[in-house]
Amino acid sequence: MTSEIEIDTSLEDSDYYYMCQTESLTDSINEHIFENGRRYHTYYGEDKNLLPTDEIEQDRLDLHHQIFLNMMDGRLHNAPIGNKPGRILDVGTGTGIWAIDMADTYEDAEVIGMDLTPIQPVWVPPNCRFMVDDAEQEWTYDSETFGFIHLRNITASISSWSTVLAEAYRCLTPGGYIETAELGCTCYSADGHIPEDNPLRASFDMIVDAMSQIGRTFPQPGVLKERLEQAGFVDVTEVCYKQPLGPWPKDKKLKQLGAMTLMMLEVGLQAYSLAAFTRILKMDPAEAERRVRLATDVAKDRNNHIYNRFYVAYGRKPEN
Ligand SMILES: C[S@@+](CC[C@H](N)C(=O)[O-])C[C@H]1O[C@@H](n2cnc3c(N)ncnc32)[C@H](O)[C@@H]1O
Repeated sequence: MTSEIEIDTSLEDSDYYYMCQTESLTDSINEHIFENGRRYHTYYGEDKNLLPTDEIEQDRLDLHHQIFLNMMDGRLHNAPIGNKPGRILDVGTGTGIWAIDMADTYEDAEVIGMDLTPIQPVWVPPNCRFMVDDAEQEWTYDSETFGFIHLRNITASISSWSTVLAEAYRCLTPGGYIETAELGCTCYSADGHIPEDNPLRASFDMIVDAMSQIGRTFPQPGVLKERLEQAGFVDVTEVCYKQPLGPWPKDKKLKQLGAMTLMMLEVGLQAYSLAAFTRILKMDPAEAERRVRLATDVAKDRNNHIYNRFYVAYGRKPEN
């Protein structure tokens, strides 16, 4: 009898590992494109994550982590998870910096960072690991296996919050905590009104407009709380922090926050604007870059006193 497909009779265990786990998976999840000088991950489709994933973006995320910590007075979370939170999941972990800090802080906990893109470091605490996954698909984790689920700064890529939060609800143990933390994209001024043609405000407004065209909505006060409550979580609390765009505040802590934010504002605006303006609003790349520069100049001008808001909401899965 002849076989239709010729069989390799010298197969070894490592061949299976090579084909099923390592090479094919690693190659495909690393698919990316270079566009307007930045690298974007494309394995899940070009518009899945409109932010770049290159080293410039990774450095920005790590600096932003420090800014988030400063805003929250050094705390990694607001949810009252106690000393033994059990397993912890960080959804959209980015460079994994929050997950690594959590693993160092809660040595008894197993911390998993999940992301579309494998940009996390290899040398991490023994109780921390990373997985490539899409939070908007059914999660691969068993039900009721996490004591704390954390989602930070993933608004620009999430179209279906109800899907993500339903999976989080399923995977949390009864009584377990969820925390969602997101930057708004609205310019506020300590002096009052900001004209619509102010280039910084105009850029923020265009980011909101472009992102909303593909179903991504930046939060306003109360939105995160409402999302958690609609998903079934209880005892939900929302806290709002101010993030100055420049070192203009008198308060020492806010001044430092503003200075740090200004350091990353241009790359941050570029990250949020370039793909959104060129792919969705069909803007010329040179014009998109020009708008980023004009917007950054507004924040650098010490006559302007502009800030954004950062919202953090946490809640609990009911016991019953
Ligand atoms: C702006 S970064 C924030 C990273 C991190 N949470 C932090 O606060 O430092 C957004 C991250 O979310 C990831 N992401 C976006 N959509 C996702 C999805 N559907 N599933 C998993 N990760 C996602 C992106 O790949 C990116 O690393």
